[in-house]
This record gives sequence, structure tokens and C-alpha cells, in this order.
Amino acid sequence: MAEIRELSEHVGATVTLRGWVEGTRGHGKVAFLVLRDGTGVVQCVVVKSQVQEDEWALHGVLTPECLVRVSGEVKVDARAPGGFEIGVSALALLAPSEEYPIQPKEHGVDFLLDHRHLWLRSSQQRAGLRVRAEVEQAVHDFLYRGGFVRIDSPILTGAVGEHAGSLFETDYFGETAYLAQTGQLYIEAACPAFRRVYCFGPTFRAEKSKTRRHLTEFWMVEPEVAFADSDENMRLQEDFVSYIVERALENCAEELKVLERDTSRLEAVKPPFPRMSYTEAVAELQGRGAAVEWGKDLGASDETELMADRELPLFVHDYPKQAKAFYMKENPADPRTVLCNDLLVPEGYGEIIGGSQREDDLGRLQARIAEEGLPEKAYAWYLDLRRYGTFPHSGFGLGIERTVAWITGRHHIRELIPFPRLMNRLYP
Ligand code: 4AD
Ligand code: MG
Repeated sequence: MAEIRELSEHVGATVTLRGWVEGTRGHGKVAFLVLRDGTGVVQCVVVKSQVQEDEWALHGVLTPECLVRVSGEVKVDARAPGGFEIGVSALALLAPSEEYPIQPKEHGVDFLLDHRHLWLRSSQQRAGLRVRAEVEQAVHDFLYRGGFVRIDSPILTGAVGEHAGSLFETDYFGETAYLAQTGQLYIEAACPAFRRVYCFGPTFRAEKSKTRRHLTEFWMVEPEVAFADSDENMRLQEDFVSYIVERALENCAEELKVLERDTSRLEAVKPPFPRMSYTEAVAELQGRGAAVEWGKDLGASDETELMADRELPLFVHDYPKQAKAFYMKENPADPRTVLCNDLLVPEGYGEIIGGSQREDDLGRLQARIAEEGLPEKAYAWYLDLRRYGTFPHSGFGLGIERTVAWITGRHHIRELIPFPRLMNRLYP
């Protein structure tokens, strides 16, 4: 059994393919069917005089997404998608597909999400998920080559990772457990063992927001580096993001075309990225008439406004302490702020990375835990890292779906994860 991706090796020969019918059309004595086998798509030409009568009769009953077996000669056809065509000599229906719910017409997004298990087969969805897979592979390749050791962090945790407001709680044999909002605290513990580490996995936030950039389950890669300060952390981020974009451009040109992505903007993504302090960002936004006050985290609309005339990603650094998580290091130059950064991207996608230098002073970290009303007991092990050879270190988290949404140009991040989990969606 051949595969569509390797047709170039079989030009002139007869192959047998198995796959799903995307569509058919016929005129008189010739019929065309578009076949997808998961490795590609190819047009098959059925000529009435060249197949058995019952096989010719089939072309009329092949409905979208039925499974067929096709044998025929591989021909070069520059105009056909993929560059090849099959001159069919045998055709068999292997499995029917009656009244396939997704038709070539506009469906509402709720309908499509209810049929996500089938929607995955559609060309734009395939393209988006293939870019996602490339981005994930690029993440691992970049970090592996950079000497990072992958540390798998727990999903069930006993301590709040980011903020108490968006926790999924579950009973853990009488104790309260949370689904991890981040793996960061755990991989910090692995820095003294391996210096450069990262975790990669699903994270969970009970976000009660129905925006284009929020999921309740999303995937995050979190690198963490011993002895890196906030400046070095940003340099790692710009190299990392540039590499990821470059890989997508290099290996997913076809997919980006299917998605009608204007890639010229992505081609410009090269280090260094511009940087701006939070305080400067607030001043710029206020200058443009935005109702933003110093002290609050930037909202989605602030981020969109700030990025309105920008083509490159932008670092916004040193946010106010009260707007950010408890573990971020106090800025010695301005103790009202912490040594942190967000990385914002253009076109309305907002923040794809949050990162920071970590508080390595035991007393200050204890004070922040108390200030946030977090139970110190749950963080005893984390505080131990500041008791036994505390060290400067920094890291960041890059959201996979937001990054892939930006690269592919899809409006909503829910399309860039196979089975999205949203506030109002647990099916399929
Ligand atoms: O800024 P966040 O909350 O940072 C952390 O979790 C840190 N522990 C990371 C670290 O320093 N190791 O989240 C990081 C990124 C965001 O920039 C965004 O891309 C993504 O995770 N993200 C979400 N993506 C989809 N849906 C959500 N609800 C998200 N919340 C955060
Ligand atoms: Mg953030």
C-alpha cells in the first residue's frame, strides 16, 4: 500500500492507496475524486471505459469522508494539488460515510466545535495542527541543542502556582489538590541539579473569560536557567521565539499558504526585539488616551493598543509588584517593581510569554507569600531552595496555542489545540 506523500517515487507505476474521499465531481464519461490519506491529498481520475461497470457506478455514491481503496497509475500533473494525479484502474468502497455533518458551506463555530472530532479533517484545521506540531518540535530541538534537560513537573499540586483566582480544585484523599497552573516552581528545584531545565505540558486555569486568547487547558513550555538575570532571560526568549518562527516558515510553507497567512511579517522576526519598561508603556498608552493606571496589569485592550503600529514582538519589562506573581524578584533599582517581562506580539494576539527573574532572598520571598495570603506550609519545600545555596535564576513560560495562533494568523486560539477546553465546553 503506497502513501500519497511518496507518489514522486512512483511516477509511471501503478500504486494502491487507501483514504477518505474529500469530494467528487463528474462529467459524462470522466469522474474526479479527491482522496486524502493523512499524508497528503491527490486527485484521482476515473474514466468510464477504463474501469469495471460496478466500479464506474461507485463514483456516483462516494459521499464525503467515505473510505476507499484506489489503484492506478501515478502521473505528473503540475496543475493538480501536490503535483500528481492517479489514473484509476480499480476502485473499491471500504467504509461508507452517510450524511457527513460538515459540508462545504459556512457552519457556525459552535456547530464546528461540537463536531471537533470530524472538523480535525478539514484542510485549515489540518494545517493549523501541523504548524502546532512543528512549533512543539522546534521547542524541543532548540532547548535540547542548548543543553536544557527536560524535567516533567507534576499536574496534581498542593500549592498555588500563579494566582489563587483561577484554580481547579479536586479532592486528593481528603487533602485539597490543584491542577497545575505552571510547572515553574518544580523545575526551579531542578536548576541546581542541571542548571538549564524546562518543562513542557498542559497547564490549567479556571479562567472565567470567553476571549479569543483564553483556554482553561493550554500547553506551556517553561525554561529555567541558573545564574541568568532578567536581561539574559529576555535574550533567550528572543532567540527562542525567532527560532520557532523560522522553523515554521521553513517547514510549514504549504500550511501557511492554506491558512492564507501573510508571512512577510513573520520573516522580519529576528533578534533583538524592542524593549520598553512597564512605566514607559503606561505613559505611551496614557498619551494615546487609554484609561490605564500605573499599578495595574495591562489588559488585553491595552496590549492591542500598544502593539497597534508595531510589526515586531515587544518586551514590556519591570511591572509593578502588586500586578504580578509572588515569586518574582524585587527590582533593586525601583522596589515598587519586579524584574519581569511579558512578550507581546502584534495583530491582537497579545502576550505569548510571561517571564521573570525569581526572588532568591528567603526573607523577601516569605514576605511576599504572606502578603498574598498564601499558606507558607505549602511552600516549605520551595523556600528550601532559598535556604540551601540560593542562587540567581530566571525563566519564562511560552503559551503554545497563542504562539501558534499568531504564527498561523488564526483569530481564536481554540483552533490550534486538537480538543479545546473552554469555560463552556468539555465536549467532545
Ligand atoms: O504569564 P503566565 O501566567 O506565566 C507563568 O505561568 C509563569 N509560571 C511562566 C514562567 O515564568 N515559567 O503564563 C505564561 C503564558 C502566557 O504568556 C500565555 O502565552 C499562556 O501562558 N497563557 C495562556 N494561554 C491560553 N489560555 C490561557 N488561559 C493562558 N494563560 C496563560
Ligand atoms: Mg502573564
